[in-house]
Amino acid sequence: VLDISKLYKEVGCFTVDPGFSATASCASGITFIDGEQGILLYRGYPIEQLAARSNFLEVTYLLWYGKLPNESQLQQFTHEVVHHTMINESLRLFYQGFHHDAHPMAVLVGVVGSLSAFYHDYLDIHDQKSREMAALRLVAKMPTIAAAAYKYTMGQPQIYPKNSLSYAGNFLHMMFAMPTQPYEVDPVAERALDLLLVLHADHEQNASTSTVRLAGSSGANPFACVAAGIAALWGPAHGGANEAVIRMLQEIGDAKNIPKYIARAKDKKDPFRLMGFGHRVYKNFDPRATIIRETCYQVLEKLADSRDPLFELALRLEEIALKDEYFIERKLYPNVDFYSGIIYRALNIPMSMFTAMFAIARTAGWMAHWMEMMADPELRIGRPRQLYTGPVMRDYVPLEERK
Ligand code: ACO
Repeated sequence: VLDISKLYKEVGCFTVDPGFSATASCASGITFIDGEQGILLYRGYPIEQLAARSNFLEVTYLLWYGKLPNESQLQQFTHEVVHHTMINESLRLFYQGFHHDAHPMAVLVGVVGSLSAFYHDYLDIHDQKSREMAALRLVAKMPTIAAAAYKYTMGQPQIYPKNSLSYAGNFLHMMFAMPTQPYEVDPVAERALDLLLVLHADHEQNASTSTVRLAGSSGANPFACVAAGIAALWGPAHGGANEAVIRMLQEIGDAKNIPKYIARAKDKKDPFRLMGFGHRVYKNFDPRATIIRETCYQVLEKLADSRDPLFELALRLEEIALKDEYFIERKLYPNVDFYSGIIYRALNIPMSMFTAMFAIARTAGWMAHWMEMMADPELRIGRPRQLYTGPVMRDYVPLEERK
């Protein structure tokens, strides 16, 4: 009889690392994170500097090509993205197949996956220019696809992209303009949205990026890979957290209820967790959360009629949790998504769209990783092993002899 435990010993070094806590799945030159010191670098540039001085398309260029563009390179890159913002008219018909109250992430998975049916025949994944074209198409079309999902759920006509606007401004236009009513993009909203896109653009081997890489390692086309990434992003432990934070704050309702919810978060028999708290890598603070917290104040001051009571509640919850032994011991701090939902609310973006916003931003990172991986001449299919815990080898028992 085959002794499975002996077999593992004979294999030599066999690592079991659930959750990949200490196992690098690849080598990458795109993003660096020091979780202890709260450092995040895109291609060597600190996120604080990029947040203060750059914009989403410049950051996308940086992530893809490894250097900041000069003026004419940025102009050309912006022009190419703008050139691809339209979606095929027959793609618009897809939306009608969805239930009227479908979650935008469900629509996004379907519509982005269906881009494979439009473009993969023209895509040579072994050719760099062809890969770049796919990446451009994806980054350019994501806001159009996401805004169209929103318009569909609202029962409103879809709005075509307006290419004189910035990337963030165009998205706001497609979300809020009506055919009969022009929409003036507010510069504060535009800047805040652009900042969120910069902060969410990449974060090395998170669950969705790893999904894109694993799917891509088999030679799957990038549209299919990004659809897989969107599906992985949707979960509340990952990109779905921003929506879950707002739901949680609404459920808490009032500062007087905070201790009750903190007690629930500590209770191991209760599945409740403080959403927006904790991170697999950041164990002191999430530098993106620090930047975004500041922006929250500015946006609410300029855009909201009064302070958002949920923001007040979030600040109170943060204050109480950060003094609590349970959170201190486990190094649980607010992550970027503890605040992003509050900014989206101030921009009138509905809660169901929050994770879709994340997907728009992360498409830049997904494509950076996919292109980096596909350019590697030593690329091997990702094929993790497992630690088998099932029955040892046994003989088949005919049906009539089974008890
Ligand atoms: N609330 C309460 N307890 C928590 C929380 C939380 N939000 N997060 C972690 N813990 C506890 C765990 O119960 C565990 O306690 P134990 O050691 O007593 O068993 C300990 O802290 C370590 O937690 P793990 O689950 O092992 O941490 P992991 O690195 O696997 O998970 C994660 C990280 C998924 C982000 C987790 O902290 C979480 O679920 N947070 C809430 C969801 C969230 O905000 N996700 C967004 C992540 S950021 C992003 O995707 C942009």
